[in-house]
Amino acid sequence: MKKILLIGNGAREHAIAEALQRAGGVEIFAVGKTKNPGIFGLLGGGEYLLKDVCDVEAVREFAARIRPDFAVVGPEAPIAAGMVDMLAEVGVKTASPLQTVGRLESSKAFTRDLVAKYGIPGNPKFKVFHDENGLSDFFDVLGGEYVVKADGLKGGKGVKVSGEHLHGREEGLAYAKECLADSGRVVIEEKFVGQEFSLMSFCDGRHTVEMPCVQDHKRAYEGDKGPNTGGMGTYSDANHSLPFLRASDVAEAADITRKVAAALLKETGCEFKGVMYGGFIAVRDGVRLIEYNARFGDPEAMNVLSILKTNFVDVCEAIIRGELAGMKVEFENKATVCKYVVPEGYPDNAVKGVKIEIGALPEGVRAYFSSVDAREDGLYLAGSRAVAMVGMGSTIAAAEKLAEAGAAAVTGPVFYRKDVGTAGLIQQKIAMLKGLRN
Ligand code: GLY
Repeated sequence: MKKILLIGNGAREHAIAEALQRAGGVEIFAVGKTKNPGIFGLLGGGEYLLKDVCDVEAVREFAARIRPDFAVVGPEAPIAAGMVDMLAEVGVKTASPLQTVGRLESSKAFTRDLVAKYGIPGNPKFKVFHDENGLSDFFDVLGGEYVVKADGLKGGKGVKVSGEHLHGREEGLAYAKECLADSGRVVIEEKFVGQEFSLMSFCDGRHTVEMPCVQDHKRAYEGDKGPNTGGMGTYSDANHSLPFLRASDVAEAADITRKVAAALLKETGCEFKGVMYGGFIAVRDGVRLIEYNARFGDPEAMNVLSILKTNFVDVCEAIIRGELAGMKVEFENKATVCKYVVPEGYPDNAVKGVKIEIGALPEGVRAYFSSVDAREDGLYLAGSRAVAMVGMGSTIAAAEKLAEAGAAAVTGPVFYRKDVGTAGLIQQKIAMLKGLRN
């Protein structure tokens, strides 16, 4: 049996645990503040350490005792906190990046500067500011269409976009000054107009292997309205592209990631091992880079890992050994739709501590648990996204039907976006990009 240390206890890590168990012959040793019932059912003889995912010292002791064959770190916070570096010190190899290359996600300024320095396409007009010198003038250059990015991990709340979160030059300037006061650094950039998509790639430091493209829906309410969330739902298509993308868009995005991996190695001397998750946007004349994350997306992990055909343990070991180039990583040609069921009031005033029930799920629907407390008498909402329902099918429409049935089977003070993966919403996205490109 292989022992695998899995850090993180959300739905993304539930999907990772399932993919590891599908590979067979593994015991999972999980770390998380609360027991995820899905991961708990997949330990296969392993253990659960109930500690914060950033508690580096507690994980050091755990790893020294269990001596895992390798580790996987799910969320961004422990990567930024140096968890992988600590594991390397105690001799545990990890299919996740060291802190220095994890800056790809934890420092927006680092990534923009890297892409610019190595002449990689995809950057917007941007400037990194360390003080207010020239700040106001740059807002004038961008002419009211801007994005302000706080440096550092902000749980998805550090990026504010004109016309959405900020209105007019003065609000942008005020938020940029707030960011400077907070961390001494802020990135101001041009706002792109187009359709966003996620392209995640496995990376062994020198080679990248793309996963299917996925589109996430960050807004809380139907029609892409309301506050930003961690992601309310996602879909992917059977051909591994998306209905609004051209083959050249996917190729451009993959090429940017390949070049960024090479630049990272050259710049830091350190190999990025893990998942490079590119947030891209298809615009009028091609593809631009919004940001990188240094981990699987949540919910995107549920879309891609559900259809991964290749043994995931082998993929992790190839990442660790630098052997991805010699490996054929395959995904089933199936469409997937994921709908997150979240507490009423999410994301700002989420109901907590109230029981939910999950009725019978139709065959083919997979449930991945996230922010739920598993008590003796059932599942209770714990204040964030509760359970992700994933459907798979030969078409997006078939996958959507299943995900919808799964989400509708959850009762209690919850809601979900019925429109994720529906033909109506996808047609709007196709029409929007077509309009831009014609
Ligand atoms: N899907 C958004 C994220 O994982 O950051």
